[in-house]
Amino acid sequence: MDELIRSAAAQFETLLREQLQRQERMEKGAFTRDFKGADRIVIGVIGGDGIGPVIVREAKRALEKLLGDELASGRVVLKEIEGLTLENRMACGQSVPDAVLAEIKSCDVLLKGPTTTPKGGTMESANVTLRRELDLYANVRPVTVPEEGIDWIFFRENTEGEYALGSRGIELPGRLSMDFKVTTDAGTRRIARAAFDYARLNGKTKVAIVTKANIMKKTDGMFSRIAHEVAAEYPEITAEDWYVDIMAANLVNPAVRGGLQVFLTPNLYGDILTDEAAQLQGGVGTAGSANIGGACAMFEAIHGSAPRKIANGEGDYANPASILKAAEMLLRHIAMPDRADRLAQAMRLCTETEKRVVVTGHRDGATCRAFGDYLLEKL
Ligand code: IPM
Ligand code: MG
Repeated sequence: MDELIRSAAAQFETLLREQLQRQERMEKGAFTRDFKGADRIVIGVIGGDGIGPVIVREAKRALEKLLGDELASGRVVLKEIEGLTLENRMACGQSVPDAVLAEIKSCDVLLKGPTTTPKGGTMESANVTLRRELDLYANVRPVTVPEEGIDWIFFRENTEGEYALGSRGIELPGRLSMDFKVTTDAGTRRIARAAFDYARLNGKTKVAIVTKANIMKKTDGMFSRIAHEVAAEYPEITAEDWYVDIMAANLVNPAVRGGLQVFLTPNLYGDILTDEAAQLQGGVGTAGSANIGGACAMFEAIHGSAPRKIANGEGDYANPASILKAAEMLLRHIAMPDRADRLAQAMRLCTETEKRVVVTGHRDGATCRAFGDYLLEKL
């Protein structure tokens, strides 16, 4: 046992030094990137696993239509990236194989379908690897339910917390397991700034800082303290402190939720709250997600690869709404708000007002392809 403890302690020292280096790198890194006037934008398109390729195909067709002129002139390039599949990842023994990562890094922005993560074992989630390798620190998820007065946007820290070392915990077999949660100064400051900048630019008056700082005193305590330091630079915006449990309750409390605007959360709480919020909007199949970094940004559906849907032969009936929402966010990010608006408008027509082709996710509804055809007609 002494030997096991010594080796665990040595592993801990390695982790601590690595995380310290990461914090120092972040202090020097770029905050975000402006695509206005960029003369070439490479959009990487990644199908992923399960229903991923089915839904991404439709989003790609929509982008091809919307970006026709730019694609023809070569200002925008759509680049298919192969090999981010569970089979290839298992064969290479890497959550994102080196060759695939190199391709991905040659892109400016990415549109990505869901990828499957094997449970247990040591294979890290491809999402988590990509977020770390590309340093995509801000996970931005809008949720709107107009008839309920809900217009929310979540700024979830995307590289730290329980995720930073989630596949590198310590185990004393048969006795105990320990995972680590990491909060850094620079990592918190940049996500807090992203949330408050957004609030300022979009005329929002409140940011809810969501932690469990009464229990996770070091990590969440630091997150809350730094968020308030950043908030002080935005005197016109009210920073509110919330604990994640009561926030989860109030997302379903009609008396309170309409007053919530911008959320700033550490990684895991943001993961959970955004699924809950998406459910209020009509399910995780309807919500898009942006992963923004200083150099690159990745846009994806917030749901998983739905292996059960593939197994029961309903893969072709998957709902592309979430990845189309992600495509809309991508267009906004690359400074093409007019194209993003066109896509949003067509989506509203197809899913809310006209609804001639309705996807249910099951055999009783339209196929993903049929919906894609319908959308193209309206674009
Ligand atoms: C999400 C997903 C991911 C996460 C998974 C696929 C690793 O749930 O994007 O919210 O936990 O962050
Ligand atoms: Mg999630």
